[in-house]
Amino acid sequence: MVSISSREYARRRRRLMNEMEPGSIAVIPGASQQRRNRDIFYPFRQDSDFYYLTGFCEPDALLVLVPLREQGESILFCREKDPKLEQRDGAILGPEAAIASIGVDDAFPVADEDEILPGLIESRHRIYMTMGEYPSFDARVMSYVAHIRGRESGGAGPPGEFVSLKHLLHEHRIYKSAAEIQLMRQAAEISANAHLRAMQRVRPGMLEGELEAELVYEFMRNGAPAAAYPSIVGGGENACVLHYVNNNCVLNAGELVLIDAGCEYEHYAGDITRTFPVDGRYSAAQKEIYNIVLAANLAAIDLCRPGEHFNAPHEAAVEVMVEGLIELGILHGDADELIADGSYLLFSPHKSSHWLGIDVHDVGEYRFHDEWRPLEPGMVLTIEPGIYISRGTASAQVPEQYIGIGIRIEDDVLITHYGCDVLSKSIAKETSAIELLMQAP
Ligand code: GLY
Ligand code: MN
Ligand code: MN
Repeated sequence: MVSISSREYARRRRRLMNEMEPGSIAVIPGASQQRRNRDIFYPFRQDSDFYYLTGFCEPDALLVLVPLREQGESILFCREKDPKLEQRDGAILGPEAAIASIGVDDAFPVADEDEILPGLIESRHRIYMTMGEYPSFDARVMSYVAHIRGRESGGAGPPGEFVSLKHLLHEHRIYKSAAEIQLMRQAAEISANAHLRAMQRVRPGMLEGELEAELVYEFMRNGAPAAAYPSIVGGGENACVLHYVNNNCVLNAGELVLIDAGCEYEHYAGDITRTFPVDGRYSAAQKEIYNIVLAANLAAIDLCRPGEHFNAPHEAAVEVMVEGLIELGILHGDADELIADGSYLLFSPHKSSHWLGIDVHDVGEYRFHDEWRPLEPGMVLTIEPGIYISRGTASAQVPEQYIGIGIRIEDDVLITHYGCDVLSKSIAKETSAIELLMQAP
């Protein structure tokens, strides 16, 4: 199995420390378990920044980076071993084993944070932290600072600057390493196979949720413990609800079903959308809209290459979709004007791309100052144009046969030195290829 080596985690910490101001400290809390109700918790998901720097998956941990600290620069706070708790919830690594296992310089029980962290912060003039993510942690850090300030007359020096960690760390996360790319290929491949399974299992009369179960089955049997986000399985007009997650309606013959689903594999997300006919055959009207979205998807992928800016693929997709909608008599007027005045947004209201990585909507700036940033090798983004003609938004001018159709086609795309590699390419997207797959026994 591919995974990120502890050397790579160490390199990530080193890189961050090299870019931090001399005399500064970074504090990166892990996630805590979230209560679902009474004493039942949601499945635990580690904080993405913390995970990126440690690969450590237990709750209630904290990473502290203190560049050039003689007694050790990277310090982990984590839960102590506790046989009773371990009997209930599973193994706890404990600080002692964490030093070798996680590769940090030092480790302490998280219960000692109050005692130890103020001393680490004292005399550091700048604190890097992910502000606003964990209000109770932010408040704790402030209380340490206040405490140090209270002793200022005795020579203690509180930090005077708080800087968002995102400027440094999220710029690192946007460029995927070779090992990360391997994991993302795997996440895309498992997700693609789940879409294939859904295409081959769908039957009129099934519940949307039954198809979701097929996706989950494929994720889990391939070592992906969860979906990267709530799966969208929308039959008929439900496909026009962009974040439809109820998945509780019956799938009817003659309708399309839109599935937007991807697994989380080793903490990396897949994010794929395919839209296919419940009874295995696209109608003529469905095909017409579908082929516009497909052309938009392909035009956008064509511009996924170094040197193009982030929004160029989206702009190309919009152009193709607007021209197609005019041709079908769904939009009326001049394409440039419809784009400029935003009237096309009625039928295609969302952007075509976002960064993809440990988070499905991954971190990283989209613009520098007022300019879209250029695409560069190692970046991974989605391409996901869509057209949605719901009864609610369609005006009287929309030909009846198109009403109720919602189609999105979403791929995961890695920017390479020469262009791009579509990580989700193994799942078909041409109508004839999908129809053939759906006929397979
Ligand atoms: N399913 C989330 C997205 O496509 O952005
Ligand atoms: Mn998606
Ligand atoms: Mn997406």
